[in-house]
Amino acid sequence: MAPTTTIAASGYNVLLGAGMLDRVEAIVRSVAPAYRYAVITDHTVGALYGDQVSRQFGGSASIFSIPPGELHKNRDSWATLTDRLLDSGFNRDTTVIALGGGVVGDLAGFVAATFMRGVPVVQVPTTLLAMIDASIGGKTGVDTLAGKNLVGAFHPPAAVVIDPQALESLGVDQCRSGLAEAIKHGAIADEAYFEEMAVAAEQLLGREPEAWDAGVVFRLIERSVQIKVDVVTRDAREMGVRKILNFGHTIGHAIELVSEFAMSHGDAVARGMVLEAQAGERASITVPGTSDRLRDVLQRAGLPTDCPADYSIDRLLSIMRGDKKSRVGVIEYAIPTRVGVMAGSERGYGVPMDDQIVRSVLAESAARGVVA
Ligand SMILES: NC(=O)c1ccc[n+]([C@@H]2O[C@H](COP(=O)([O-])OP(=O)(O)OC[C@H]3O[C@@H](n4cnc5c(N)ncnc54)[C@H](O)[C@@H]3O)[C@@H](O)[C@H]2O)c1
Ligand SMILES: [Zn+2]
Repeated sequence: MAPTTTIAASGYNVLLGAGMLDRVEAIVRSVAPAYRYAVITDHTVGALYGDQVSRQFGGSASIFSIPPGELHKNRDSWATLTDRLLDSGFNRDTTVIALGGGVVGDLAGFVAATFMRGVPVVQVPTTLLAMIDASIGGKTGVDTLAGKNLVGAFHPPAAVVIDPQALESLGVDQCRSGLAEAIKHGAIADEAYFEEMAVAAEQLLGREPEAWDAGVVFRLIERSVQIKVDVVTRDAREMGVRKILNFGHTIGHAIELVSEFAMSHGDAVARGMVLEAQAGERASITVPGTSDRLRDVLQRAGLPTDCPADYSIDRLLSIMRGDKKSRVGVIEYAIPTRVGVMAGSERGYGVPMDDQIVRSVLAESAARGVVA
């Protein structure tokens, strides 16, 4: 019998196990029973798993599907979904089931946060990134023209239901983005897990997810979920320790933006982690050798580790200054002191850094990097 486990977060449980997709109805009815159920998904995931989930509810569930992709995580999709719920007669006695990757999770979560001033949502993530990151912690929202995730709400799920078997239909590239976040979890909180990831990444890399070792995948999801749950439980509204989850994301987001999202989030964050650790070493915050260890593990997972050669460093820094994580124009970073331990606890984990240090790290990396 395949293993299953329950990880307690604050106010809800994360249920993990092969075959969980067949248990969604039982779980939803126990944690958030409602008169009607709205399964919100995208066309890709809906075609794969929509019926499998909705038919468990008999006639009381309906599927609402949007086109896949980040471009559709916007206010138009929010309005369309909300109108369709209203047109279909959904009222306060509704539970939303978010079936899909992080795009669906954030959007459906935001629909749930606002529909009738808030109805429960159960997250059923189907990408590795959504399983170990996006579905946990209660952040929901949409993108605007001015940037990603700028409109949203904290709306913790009633439960998170993770079936690793759903990864079998996911492409290797999508899985690499999840691996980058898993490596980040080791780097920010657990050195032993970080070392484990070096071995796991090699086992997983280059194989289609359907050939992945179920035990390795289960362990990876379990430990990453525990780390994310632990961090967000200590800091539900990102006032302090939750900022450590942003490791690699200050520079990574800027790189992602300059690529106009042609680069995957995982590829951008992988580069960002190495660059931020290098800057930390140069500022004598980070133990020398930390960035090399990161580079090694990320490369084993097939992830890139340098700034693309053709990116303007001025542009990267100006994006970073405009980021919602910066404070009064000073760019703040989440920086490790060493693998598994983060710096800046005395000032809420946002570490300012001399722009000149960041510039020199970016310039040297871009000189090594290739044109993206
Ligand atoms: N709320 C948070 O705390 C948080 C944290 C991290 C990321 N996010 C958000 O998550 C989003 C990225 O999530 P993502 O990487 O899951 O992207 P995604 O939701 O766009 O999914 C990636 C692609 O994979 C497809 N897909 C999903 N599951 C599949 C499956 N099992 N088989 C085949 N195809 C499948 C989707 O249709 C989509 O085309 C971003 O919008 C990001 O802002 C949120
Ligand atoms: Zn991320």
